[in-house]
Amino acid sequence: MSIHIGAPEGAIADTVLMPGDPLRARFVAENYLENPVCYNEVRGMYGYTGTFRGQKVSVQGSGMGQPSLSIYVNELFRDYGVKRIMRIGSCGSLQENVKIRDIVIAMSASTDSSMNDITFRNMHYAPTAHYGLFAKAQKAAEKLEIPFHGGNILSSDIFYNNDPDEWKIWSGHGVLAVEMESAALYTLAAKYGGEALTILTVSDSLVSGEATTSEEREKTFTKMMQLALETAVS
Ligand code: HPA
Repeated sequence: MSIHIGAPEGAIADTVLMPGDPLRARFVAENYLENPVCYNEVRGMYGYTGTFRGQKVSVQGSGMGQPSLSIYVNELFRDYGVKRIMRIGSCGSLQENVKIRDIVIAMSASTDSSMNDITFRNMHYAPTAHYGLFAKAQKAAEKLEIPFHGGNILSSDIFYNNDPDEWKIWSGHGVLAVEMESAALYTLAAKYGGEALTILTVSDSLVSGEATTSEEREKTFTKMMQLALETAVS
């Protein structure tokens, strides 16, 4: 048991898939894993363990934003000995060529958050994906014939920004898309000597103003899940 995860020792797999939405965690467990068992209901932040092609895999909700994700990621690495965490989520495109429904794999995650300013005393750490896991995801994408964009993303603390044009600062430096969690995930994985990777589906575009419908999100989510699970067992 840890403070926010009520699981007994050994209940969580070495590999954890991590959507922001706990109901998505339940959906993944019920639709993609064999024999899923719910190990956490504390605060409604569902966590399940099952198997995929005979391999033990867990799926744990993180909540939205870096503070919420950090609580779960700290406890998974530190208290449950988890070895790798793969975030699966949605993002807003910051580039013309990154279209809605596309898949983005984050090689690195810039941030406007003060969390790493506190940790690194205003020096600037560069949160980076685990290279081995990134390479596995690239191979899995080739095998499944799923095209993706690989590069830098922005983990922002602000969904409703007072300045509607601030994203252009990041866009102007090649940042592909914005979400709200990965910089913390990559930083904590490095701290604990674990592996981390973020795979995202583009749900909306700050460039074009387009957004996906919930039906489209469901379909593109399937592709992202196949890629994450193939990576998890490869
Ligand atoms: N901003 C932050 N997070 C997001 C967005 C966005 O526009 N779209 C999906 N996740």
